[in-house]
Amino acid sequence: MNQKAKVLIIDEDKKSATDIEEFLSGAGFDVAIAASAAATRELMESSDFFDVVIADEHVKDADAIEILGLVKQKDTLCQVIIASGKPSIESAVNFIKAGAEDYLSKPVNTERLRDAVEKALVKRSAFRQNLAMEKRVETQFGFERIIGRTVQMQKIIQILKQIAGTDVTVLVQGESGTGKELIAKAIHLNSTRRNKQFVPLNCAALSEGILESELFGHEKGAFTGAAYQRKGRFEFADGGTLFLDEIGDMPMSTQIKLLRVIETSEVFRVGNNVPLKVDVRLIAATNRDLEQLVREKVFRNDLFFRLKVFTINLSPLRERLADLPFLVDSFVKEFAAKHNRKITGITQQALKQLSKYSWPGNVRELRNCVESMIVISTAGKIDISSIPEYIVQKKQESVVTSLSGVSMNTMERELIKNTLATAGNNRAEAAKILGIGERTLYRKIKEYGLE
Ligand SMILES: Nc1ncnc2c1ncn2[C@@H]1O[C@H](COP(=O)(O)OP(=O)(O)OP(=O)(O)O)[C@@H](O)[C@H]1O
Ligand SMILES: [Mg+2]
Repeated sequence: MNQKAKVLIIDEDKKSATDIEEFLSGAGFDVAIAASAAATRELMESSDFFDVVIADEHVKDADAIEILGLVKQKDTLCQVIIASGKPSIESAVNFIKAGAEDYLSKPVNTERLRDAVEKALVKRSAFRQNLAMEKRVETQFGFERIIGRTVQMQKIIQILKQIAGTDVTVLVQGESGTGKELIAKAIHLNSTRRNKQFVPLNCAALSEGILESELFGHEKGAFTGAAYQRKGRFEFADGGTLFLDEIGDMPMSTQIKLLRVIETSEVFRVGNNVPLKVDVRLIAATNRDLEQLVREKVFRNDLFFRLKVFTINLSPLRERLADLPFLVDSFVKEFAAKHNRKITGITQQALKQLSKYSWPGNVRELRNCVESMIVISTAGKIDISSIPEYIVQKKQESVVTSLSGVSMNTMERELIKNTLATAGNNRAEAAKILGIGERTLYRKIKEYGLE
């Protein structure tokens, strides 16, 4: 870490260059000299890097702006200080605007020079840290995080890469836990909107009135209880991405308002008739069959057409079991690190057992399952004894055969009852496992007298 910082002096005046060199070497820097733009180019090409470049404003074969461009092209983090024999405020401003770090007059004052170089080094290291962090964020949330080796997952990732940079509306369909939100985030983080907000909103969890004021905002006094003015999610997502989750559960009256926003790029806060311009990319997700909902007349056809410009269909995990070992492997690594366990993998036998299960909660259920297995294991490989009992016992076929000869209603009632029990009576969780909206679940609970 204690390597000397490298400084390059570009100056055709030999005396001036060696004076600076002597001073900086004495101050502990590793210094090189180039007497022309051509020599600079050669040095840069030879894959040498420099932390700081001090360039004379005038060299014969190029002007300092060109040299600045040359240096920055090679290494954006390299800091450039311009030294001028004929300094002027105007040229100083030009150089700083073009990306120079500092501007000194010649002959240079050595204290001022040392100060400038040290400042440039601090800046360079801050930039470098920033860049490393950005890289980390990207690999953490980019497409690399979506695991899928099956042909269909590979195709989806390929398509996502192509559409992420565009502003096209995306509809992500798939059962609960198949990775809809993961995909929405990856699209956002790989788009030009990545530095603005990714704003999620679950349309199923809210009543109609609240949903509208969440989406569009409201004015003070717009309705009873509206004590303050409030921005809507569309406004928060301005310049960024709005993720409308469980869109299939959006009430019809809200759907028409959403359609208008999509068509006009304008929102009206509840209680206000002045439109606000918004620039938002929409990603919608649902675990329901929107086409079916359109047929049932609970989802607007025109909105459906607007949303499905680009549709991604995520298959349930049980239909892409080839991805299971890779998912398990990744989750093992993640949770072994999180819980500080020396777990290196999973036995073949255990993996086989996991593949027999139907995974109604899909990847989320698998992820939770791996975490719980890690928690109860101490070291080595996860083996069959760590697999939760309900996974070992549950066999899809037996459920189907034991239920044949029973009416649909009875089956649905039993299914809801059992799922509620599995989910510890948490209705939101149960609705997710069943792949239906919470509102629908409430209605059915009432209908079957399961309260
Ligand atoms: N292909 C995948 N690779 C890695 N992790 C995944 C994948 N798919 C899903 N996951 C993980 O599974 C969990 C559930 O994913 P996510 O929340 O995106 O699902 P969802 O489809 O939005 O579910 P729901 O409909 O219940 O909201 C998350 O922890 C996510 O990171
Ligand atoms: Mg989700």
